[in-house]
Amino acid sequence: MISPHSIAFSTVLQTPNQTVRPDNPTVQNGLKAERKENIEMNHQFTYQATLAASEKINWRVEDIIGGERRLDFTRPFLPESLARVEPLSFLSPSEKLTLNQIRGHGYLYIFGLVEEFILPFVLDHARPQLHGDDYRVRALLRFAGEEAKHIHLFKTFREEFEAGFGSGCTVIGPPQEIARAVLSHHPLGVALTIAHIEWMTQRHYTDSVADDQNLDPQFKSLLKHHWMEEAQHAKLDTLMVEALGETCSDADIEGATEEYLQIGGLIDGGLQQQVQFDLESFSRATGRELNDREREMFIKVQQQAVRWTFLGSGMTHPNFLATLEDLGQGSRARVEQIAPAFC
Ligand SMILES: [Fe+2]
Ligand SMILES: [Fe+2]
Repeated sequence: MISPHSIAFSTVLQTPNQTVRPDNPTVQNGLKAERKENIEMNHQFTYQATLAASEKINWRVEDIIGGERRLDFTRPFLPESLARVEPLSFLSPSEKLTLNQIRGHGYLYIFGLVEEFILPFVLDHARPQLHGDDYRVRALLRFAGEEAKHIHLFKTFREEFEAGFGSGCTVIGPPQEIARAVLSHHPLGVALTIAHIEWMTQRHYTDSVADDQNLDPQFKSLLKHHWMEEAQHAKLDTLMVEALGETCSDADIEGATEEYLQIGGLIDGGLQQQVQFDLESFSRATGRELNDREREMFIKVQQQAVRWTFLGSGMTHPNFLATLEDLGQGSRARVEQIAPAFC
């Protein structure tokens, strides 16, 4: 469906053609030591505390969906701040509800998709540490196990959705191809992307979902349970970024920040394609063919809606920006310069 090579961020970004790796021969031991001293840690996160918090949570997929726990298709699935269906005033209330649910399905799918690259990345990060700090190893392996559970959770919800929605929803992919394209980037760029995604999940729940009494209770329960475990992941991401940052030269940090933005471009290209698919899915579900002016409005509003949902809300999260600031090398300013296009 989407080819990573065909996706460019060029309309928004000017990125230098630079690729760096942690094993870059210009990174000498002295530089690494200096880097470690220069990274400030403006947080209290530890592997031990994160592991303890995770062990208290422990829900199962079967506790959240399946059996009597069914989706209610008379209710919206996503909060309006993410779905942005209300500005489409030419749609009837029931058509807006259908579009909200299509966006809810897309939300499940995109999260399942990004977790396809988070899981192997965390495992790869944990493997060299297997004989190191026990809390660190256990916290990272638990992180990976929870991410595998989330992939299962999102798949199960999608099966429930497909059984009850009444028509098919087209999606981008395949996830493995997108995961391969993301993982080909600098590890620090990938770790920043993962930190962005997991702080973004926190924001979605606390800012938009927790106080919304109108949402389908099962879908809200999914978002709540995901949020509970992602709270630990976001802290572990911060520690992963710091650990990788300590192995990088200043030039590596700059290059990895650009690679984070390139991954954002890859995701943005996929999201723009997904909006086109959502329009097709909407017409299929409702039988309504929009005229040219309505189609143009639909695409414009929904493009910005998905950009805010998956990009802007992460790029501007205060804790993510603090992590960029700790890395130095103008990383925070570089991202803040780009972020308004996605808000
Ligand atoms: Fe997750
Ligand atoms: Fe996660």
